[in-house]
Amino acid sequence: MSTPLKDLLRTSDLSKSDIQMLLETAGKFAKKPLQAKKTLAKRTVAIYMTKSSTRTRLASESAVAHLGGTPIFMRADDLQIGRGESIADTAKVISGFCSALIVRTFAQSDVDELGKYASIPVINALTDDDHPTQLLADWLTITERFGKSFKNRKFVYVGDGNNVANAWLIMGATMGAHVVVATPQGKWAPKAAVVNQANEIAKKSGGKIEILTDPKSAAKGASAIYTDVWMSMGDSEADRNEKISALTPFSVTRELMNLTAKDSIFMHCLPAHRGEEVAADVIDGEQSVVWRQAFHRRTTIQSLLYHLTRGELKGNK
Ligand code: CP
Ligand code: NVA
Repeated sequence: MSTPLKDLLRTSDLSKSDIQMLLETAGKFAKKPLQAKKTLAKRTVAIYMTKSSTRTRLASESAVAHLGGTPIFMRADDLQIGRGESIADTAKVISGFCSALIVRTFAQSDVDELGKYASIPVINALTDDDHPTQLLADWLTITERFGKSFKNRKFVYVGDGNNVANAWLIMGATMGAHVVVATPQGKWAPKAAVVNQANEIAKKSGGKIEILTDPKSAAKGASAIYTDVWMSMGDSEADRNEKISALTPFSVTRELMNLTAKDSIFMHCLPAHRGEEVAADVIDGEQSVVWRQAFHRRTTIQSLLYHLTRGELKGNK
């Protein structure tokens, strides 16, 4: 028997059957949040963040509490890591106290290193390159709306080719869906390595990846339009003006939504900037599912903690 998946370091760590199981359990936690309230009884989960968070922090702390455990929230300044203690030593020490570590930081390599040295499950709660827990909430929202068959549906991300765009490509490819990412050409397009990886996954899953530079042709007939902030945490302020003018044609307006399928939804991981990446009448309008996505951050992180700590995910290896 193969060894179970220990960590969720990257969206690409998950197999389609892992995702399906996670979403199914999350659906149950949506209806009955306390149905597994002894899973982490008398245990602790470390949550370490070096970037801001509203949803992921609230969702993670609530998820741990609903599983009967106690979250321990820490910023870099609270730990000796802020004074130069190594990632490896920190990982080993946290493993001696806690049953899992949820981490949000800049470099993906730091999360990978925590995973390498921790004996407990490590969960990526956002890096510069990826946002796997967000995509679980997003795909639960998508399946609630459209069911489990994605045939003849196209799921479109428009805007900055950032961490969320990367995760959108990988998760959609894994699910065997037709996913599109439309960004400006060049600097703010998704990296070739991510696009290649998504294409490799899609080849096996029956999915389809399209990388476009025209938001209108991307939006045509889409079942979902997803966008994210134009300036992510850690982005260089020196790029702001150039980036915003490159991204302005990718703003999700009512006109863009009018090109989509009749039953289409608008998605955003939040936080949002109305008047920049999305118009207020879109995000606050009838097609918007952003509050459902935010709600499912807790149900999916709860499901992830439940299955990871029980060694029930298979992974892709
Ligand atoms: N969507 C998301 O990750 O939100 P926070 O940055 O508030 O956690
Ligand atoms: N791309 C954004 C997502 C925030 C949830 C960022 O990294 O800041």
